[in-house]
Amino acid sequence: MTGKGLTILGIETSCDETAAAVVRGLPPGPGEILSNVVFSQTEAHAPYGGVVPEIASRAHLEILDGIIGRALDDAGLTLADLDGIAATAGPGLIGGVMVGLTTAKGLALAANKPLLAVNHLKGHALTARMTHGADFPFLLLLVSGGHCQLLGVGGADDFRLYGSTIDDAVGEAFDKAAKILGLPYPGGPAVEAAARSGNGRAIDLPRPLVTGHNARPGADFSFSGLKTALRLAVQQQPDLSVEDAAASFQAAVIDILADRTAAAMEMFRRDFRHAAQNVLVVAGGVAANQAIGAALDRLAGVEGFAVKIPPPRLCTDNAAMIAWAGLEMLAQNETAQPFNQMLSQALAVSPRARWPLASAPEAETGNPLRR
Ligand code: KG4
Ligand code: ZN
Repeated sequence: MTGKGLTILGIETSCDETAAAVVRGLPPGPGEILSNVVFSQTEAHAPYGGVVPEIASRAHLEILDGIIGRALDDAGLTLADLDGIAATAGPGLIGGVMVGLTTAKGLALAANKPLLAVNHLKGHALTARMTHGADFPFLLLLVSGGHCQLLGVGGADDFRLYGSTIDDAVGEAFDKAAKILGLPYPGGPAVEAAARSGNGRAIDLPRPLVTGHNARPGADFSFSGLKTALRLAVQQQPDLSVEDAAASFQAAVIDILADRTAAAMEMFRRDFRHAAQNVLVVAGGVAANQAIGAALDRLAGVEGFAVKIPPPRLCTDNAAMIAWAGLEMLAQNETAQPFNQMLSQALAVSPRARWPLASAPEAETGNPLRR
């Protein structure tokens, strides 16, 4: 450890990004990103309209060593300069997670450095500490291709689940909507761009769980009915423009996210009565959506929450967030556990396809291939 804090190499391979980064700092942050290399396999998966697990793990295997080398070079460091090596141990596509975690184990053993086995979701959850130095507690809206959750975060290991999706994740819904509209993969940015010149009231789409026959209070999400309604509207109205359809879809998503986040704000206030400040952190790939960000800003203004959204390149999958989560784990553990014990415990960690941050009141559903 230097005067500037802990220096950690992070490795991320749980989906279709092969990434390595070096981050330096100490909790509560902010941290310094010394390098951040992300290789997106999007092109390899685009013909299939989604991530193909077998293609992903092969690609990770082929390029990960080079990506790690570049991350160290960009930072001007060698393995010997590090305080620890962090890798995503789940949840995610199991083949990819195995590649990253096994590589990290090898490096940690060879360099005799602590290995931190990181939950990918914890990476997203703690990013706002690395970027903004966000203090605990905060309310987290985690919106990605595999996850859609609202959590109260009371500490680096204190996650309280307020709501989650009962079917598709919101990013997955964007990707499926894009497919229906003939837009390219990944769908989120394409739908957002099309929506900019469309009319959000052009078609009347449902807001599942929020309004209508299955409405229920609380902070759970549902998007599959919305996607089906979009498909039907497109089939039944040949004159409907892609822009109007995209804008109507995005307007429905925004209403759903705002309603459920408002409910979670209530739960957060109850759980953390003595919080110095009410803060909403938005993380995950969908947090890059500016219309969603603006709507959440408006809601937060009304509800007395400050909003913290990491920049888009740190909202989508990256290894800086994994390095930072590892850094928080190491900072917590360093004094508590002898190094040998930490390393042997970490070497025994197995990759996990599923690994919830907080246990759900009802089991998490959704596509088991995605997170
Ligand atoms: O966090 P992420 O990079 O990977 C996962 O962990 O899933 O999120 C990727 C997801 C994709 O579904 C993508 O369509 C969505 O985030 N996304 C967006 C936007 N940018 C990425 N969704 C809506 N609007 C965007 N601008
Ligand atoms: Zn992610």
